[in-house]
Amino acid sequence: MPRNQQILLDNRPEGEATASNFKLVTTETPPLQDGQVLVQHHFLSLDPYMRGRMNAGKSYAQPQPLGEVMQGGIVGEVVESKHPRFQPGDKVVGMGGWQQYSVVDANQPGALRKVDTTHVPLSHYLGAVGMPGVTAWYGLVKIIAPKAGETMVISAATGAVGSAFAALAKARGCRVVGIAGGPDKCKYAVDELGFDACIDYKVHKDANSLSKALKDACPAGIDGYFENVGGMVLDAVLTRMNAFGRIAVCGMIAGYDGAPLPLTYPALILVNRLKVEGFIVSEHMEIWPEALAELGMLVGTGKLKPRESIAQGIEAAPEAFLGLLKGRNFGKQLVKVH
Ligand SMILES: NC(=O)c1ccc[n+]([C@@H]2O[C@H](COP(=O)([O-])OP(=O)(O)OC[C@H]3O[C@@H](n4cnc5c(N)ncnc54)[C@H](OP(=O)(O)O)[C@@H]3O)[C@@H](O)[C@H]2O)c1
Repeated sequence: MPRNQQILLDNRPEGEATASNFKLVTTETPPLQDGQVLVQHHFLSLDPYMRGRMNAGKSYAQPQPLGEVMQGGIVGEVVESKHPRFQPGDKVVGMGGWQQYSVVDANQPGALRKVDTTHVPLSHYLGAVGMPGVTAWYGLVKIIAPKAGETMVISAATGAVGSAFAALAKARGCRVVGIAGGPDKCKYAVDELGFDACIDYKVHKDANSLSKALKDACPAGIDGYFENVGGMVLDAVLTRMNAFGRIAVCGMIAGYDGAPLPLTYPALILVNRLKVEGFIVSEHMEIWPEALAELGMLVGTGKLKPRESIAQGIEAAPEAFLGLLKGRNFGKQLVKVH
């Protein structure tokens, strides 16, 4: 059986996560039992939620156990199978974690899913045609429920979730405005992702300044906001929300290292009769087929061209992950393993 490099969570961060929280080890993959499949990982998915799971504290997900392989989504190829539904060569999506191979009990519901790479490249099943894309779909379609002609805003607009948002909102007849860090990301948002406008929040020193930029980009106010960041960005957006606006609270990455994210004008939720709803995409498995069908069609027809940041080699995973938490990724952050 092949040698398997793995990255374990070695110790928990105090404040900011660092590379020393992780440890690279080499093991051997165990021989397969009946019902098991050996998957060679091609790409690992790096996602912001992993930061929360590195902490011991209570969250919506169980903490990542110490001394075990960092958990996470992968795409790869079956190289050996003792399960009748899987054959060597099958391309699959699973939760194999930060390692080069995984042995999967294929009888476990949802453990391994075969995917078709005819029209959608394999890596996109971790991004636009995977969990992040479905996240954008759920927040937009089920929480914000946009009407044609309304104005939608999203933060972290060029990330894995954000980049699927514009195509989905444009398909529903909306004006779509992004908020992202830096001129390159903003240009890409407008030129490639279909945003009508994109605001570089880094040139605004406070929420008042960002609020003025939002007024220019959203002359009719904001009806739907997809929140990925929190802090100053949320403060600014709240000042521009229309009455009966909807906010899908997807993430608050500005606070993932433990910094408090105080809200300056919470009374605006009342004044504008806003709906503010948080969600976890894995708790809504019933909508995944519908969402994936639309996302797969958008990518397959070239209407959605998601960008990827690809780190090379399993040993690059910790630094790439820390970079993701600092906005150094440009599009979906992946690690190429094989
Ligand atoms: N609720 C759910 O079920 C669910 C599922 C998936 C993802 N999420 C959440 O969705 C959000 C986006 O996830 P993603 O996978 O698409 O990640 P991503 O957007 O690809 O990467 C994270 C981005 O956050 C941005 N960011 C903004 N302010 C930041 C700050 N203060 N510190 C660090 N980064 C900042 C950076 O982009 P800029 O350079 O543009 O600032 C960075 O590139 C995250 O909050 C994540 O936790 C939630």
